[in-house]
Amino acid sequence: MRPASIDEVRPVQQAVLRPAGPLAGDQPHPPDWLHFAAEINGEVVGACSVGPSDWVHLDVCVLPTPTWQLRSMSVLAQYRGGVGRQLLIAAVSGAQAAGANCVWANARVPALNLYLRGGWTIVGQPWDKPGVGPHRYVVLRWGT
Ligand SMILES: CC(C)(COP(=O)(O)OP(=O)(O)OC[C@H]1O[C@@H](n2cnc3c(N)ncnc32)[C@H](O)[C@@H]1OP(=O)(O)O)[C@@H](O)C(=O)NCCC(=O)NCCS
Repeated sequence: MRPASIDEVRPVQQAVLRPAGPLAGDQPHPPDWLHFAAEINGEVVGACSVGPSDWVHLDVCVLPTPTWQLRSMSVLAQYRGGVGRQLLIAAVSGAQAAGANCVWANARVPALNLYLRGGWTIVGQPWDKPGVGPHRYVVLRWGT
């Protein structure tokens, strides 16, 4: 796993998460976000992005600030099996080093085990993202 530029991670994130193209309401990653790439034989096969992002669901729970968000966790299908876990660790380490006190994410339900095995917690009720499917909020806190 290595830090990467948005231009390096965008192709794999789009191919895995938006194979039919962007959805209405998609927001680009803010310019101050960090990106991590999994590279095998010179090819970026997986990526994720993390950066400062307010947690607005205060009716669900209160999180220690500064809050960071993890987005666009993606691994090409033929490389899945352990790569996602390593990307998750890299993103959390990056957030910790930058002074975040927690990371939250909108997790697709089929991917929940990835987060739970990494020590994350599900909060709130299931919700649906039109065009993508069922989601849960997941959080990892280490600050107070
Ligand atoms: C989620 C993803 C990044 C995990 O990569 P990976 O290298 O397989 O991850 P690991 O082997 O470290 O972890 C395996 C976990 O990933 C998740 N996973 C595996 N295949 C998946 C798939 N096709 N779709 C979604 N999640 C998947 C599962 O939670 C799995 O745990 P389980 O086998 O106990 O159910 C990868 O499967 C992927 O890119 N999926 C499609 C995009 C996606 O759903 N991204 C997550 C958005 S929140």
